[in-house]
Amino acid sequence: MSTLAVLGCMWGDEAKAKVVDYLGGLADYVVRFQGGSNAGHTIHHAGQKYVFHSVPSGILYPNSKCVIAAGVVIDPVSLLNEMDALTKLGIQFEGRLFIDERAGLVLSLHQELDSSAEAGLGANKIGTTQRGIGPAYADHTARVGLRMADLLYPDWLSSRLEALYKHHKRELDPALVQKLLQIKTRLEPFICKADNLLQEAYLEDKYILFEGAQGSLLDVSFGTYPYVTSSNTISGGICTGCGIPPRMINKILGVYKAYSTRVGEGPFPTELFDATGDRIRIQGNEFGSTTGRPRRIGWFDAFAAAYTARINGLDSIAVTLLDVLSGLPELKICTGYWIGERKLTAFPSHPMELQAVVPEYLSLPGWDADLSDCRKLNKLPKAARDYLEVIQDLVERPLELVSVGPDRSQTIAIKS
Ligand code: GDP
Ligand code: IMO
Ligand code: MG
Repeated sequence: MSTLAVLGCMWGDEAKAKVVDYLGGLADYVVRFQGGSNAGHTIHHAGQKYVFHSVPSGILYPNSKCVIAAGVVIDPVSLLNEMDALTKLGIQFEGRLFIDERAGLVLSLHQELDSSAEAGLGANKIGTTQRGIGPAYADHTARVGLRMADLLYPDWLSSRLEALYKHHKRELDPALVQKLLQIKTRLEPFICKADNLLQEAYLEDKYILFEGAQGSLLDVSFGTYPYVTSSNTISGGICTGCGIPPRMINKILGVYKAYSTRVGEGPFPTELFDATGDRIRIQGNEFGSTTGRPRRIGWFDAFAAAYTARINGLDSIAVTLLDVLSGLPELKICTGYWIGERKLTAFPSHPMELQAVVPEYLSLPGWDADLSDCRKLNKLPKAARDYLEVIQDLVERPLELVSVGPDRSQTIAIKS
């Protein structure tokens, strides 16, 4: 057995959960290593729709154990609500969920700070999910944050909370300590040292699947800063998020949507503002899983995709939501960026540069057929196969999976 990372390689919502669900049947462990309840991971299985925010998607497989590693920030109220809702659907957590004691806590204070920071930025706002993610990571880095293990030490918890509120010049409601101690009673059985667990599992030859959240272009260091999330979403984030060495990551699969989407603000070179964009939004039901916001739509950006393939060290790629493009007479793929007479040789790191680029496009014929019942590459229309081949060539990584619908079964595995 080995380990596999499934990572979103654009601006999130690439259908990572669908891919994790498809590949996860044999996983002994499914691990979230960064992000928090800003994630919205959707799985359709046996007629039921599940949207996961903090719980790893592998929880649907009764034999998989699920790990929320140290790099995640946990809103305990939202996590318990999610667990309660899943329990009602028959999912069991006892002995199956493991939460690292070092994971940071997201409090209602952080959500308030998130909202007020956004309001303060006005026209420059990030367009966050308002889940308190940025402020929670900021507090963690500033060493004033609380961590999961703090719930286990009531005196320490209350003095750290006081210091945190003082740091933010706010009044601490003493009822919060009591509330967190109640939460502790419920979460204590799941708290562990996940680095130990994963290292031991690896030595025992278990199959470990790392489930990325957000996407590479939202990475706080290598994404389209400042319009990013506050964690390292790229493959390097797995090591720092889990406390495991790079050599423990055996394979990295990058997930790309067959077109591009983005929620929130920030430059988006291939964005469509026309009827084609509206049509893709409707056909792809492109409304956020966490916030319900309409997603911005654009053509596939192979220049950005090649950049993220490199920074992640992808071994192979999955292309998802290919079915959504059916019926469009013409499809475009961005092959490069120009600024004036200059063709860029590297993906821009500054928003001023990214917003100034003019994409260069390759135009390809579309296809009309409904793809949702295709289970083999050779059953796809030739135009769809050609479209995938262009993506594979431009991203310079082999295509491993194609998704043609939200259900686990609506997947084409490519034999290498
Ligand atoms: P994630 O955050 O990367 O896991 O992706 P989301 O769950 O936020 O968004 C992906 C959406 O596309 C979800 O509503 C999925 O049910 C849906 N989906 C996944 N794969 C496919 C596909 O191949 N075709 C279509 N039409 N929908 C898909
Ligand atoms: P999944 O895991 C898409 C975006 C927000 C905003 C920026 C910062 O479902 O792919 P944050 O709340 O993290 O401070 O917001 O990041 N964003 C996502 N976009 N999918 C996500 O998660 C996202 N999580 C955050 O829209 O632009
Ligand atoms: Mg999502």
